[in-house]
Amino acid sequence: MKLFLDTADRKAIEKWSKTGIIDGVTTNPSHLSKEGSNPQQVVKDICQMLPHGDISVEITETTQKSVYEQAHAIAKIATNVVVKIPCHVDYYEIINQLVKDGIKINVTLVFTLIQSTFMAKLGVKYISPFVGRWDDIDVEGGELLFEIRSMFDRYNYQTELLAASLRGVRHLHTAILAGADAVTLPIDVLEKTMSHPLTNQGMDKFLTDWQKLGIKQFPQ
Ligand code: G3P
Repeated sequence: MKLFLDTADRKAIEKWSKTGIIDGVTTNPSHLSKEGSNPQQVVKDICQMLPHGDISVEITETTQKSVYEQAHAIAKIATNVVVKIPCHVDYYEIINQLVKDGIKINVTLVFTLIQSTFMAKLGVKYISPFVGRWDDIDVEGGELLFEIRSMFDRYNYQTELLAASLRGVRHLHTAILAGADAVTLPIDVLEKTMSHPLTNQGMDKFLTDWQKLGIKQFPQ
C-alpha cells in the first residue's frame, strides 16, 4: 500500500519522508495556498524531495479548454507529477483525452461507486474517494472503499484506489482493511497513527526494570 502525505508543507514532507514509509504527496489548492505566493516552486521542491514518489497537483482552471491546457502544463513541472482533476461531469471528455495523451491523473472529489466505475473505465491512474466528507454528513464513508475495491477486482480495472479525506486512526484502519492501493494522510493523522500509548508504556516499564540493574554500559 502506498502512503501519501496530504499537505504541501515542505518542512513536514522532508521530515516524514526520512521514515521511509512515504511514497508521495497529494497537494490541493487549499494546501498550496498556505505555502506562499509561488506554488510552482513549492511543487518543484516537493517533486525533488521525493523523486520516486507520485506528487498530485490539482488543476485550478474551470473551462474545458483551460483545464486541458493547464493539465498538460502541470504535468510538465516534473516527471513525477500526477494531475488532480475533480470528478465533475464537464471534465469527463477532458480526462478521456488526457489519459490518451499519456497524462497520469488522480481524479479527486469522488463520492460514489458509480463515479469510480466511470473513471476506471477511462483508465485514470488514481481515484480519490473522500471518506471523511461522507462522515461529515452522517454517511459511513468507509463503506465506499469496500465497494470500490470489490468493483475494481471484479472488472479487473488497473486504476488505483486512493483513500482520501482520512481524519483519524479509524479511517486509516478501515482503508487498509478495505484494501486501498494508497492512502493519503494529513500530518497530524500520520503522527497519531504511527504511535500507540501501550508501546510508550511498555518502553517505560522495560527501561525502569533495566535501570534497577545499575549497569553503566551494555554490552560492555
Ligand atoms: O486529499 C483530500 C483531502 O485534502 C481532503 O480532506 O479533511 O478536507 O476532507 P478533508
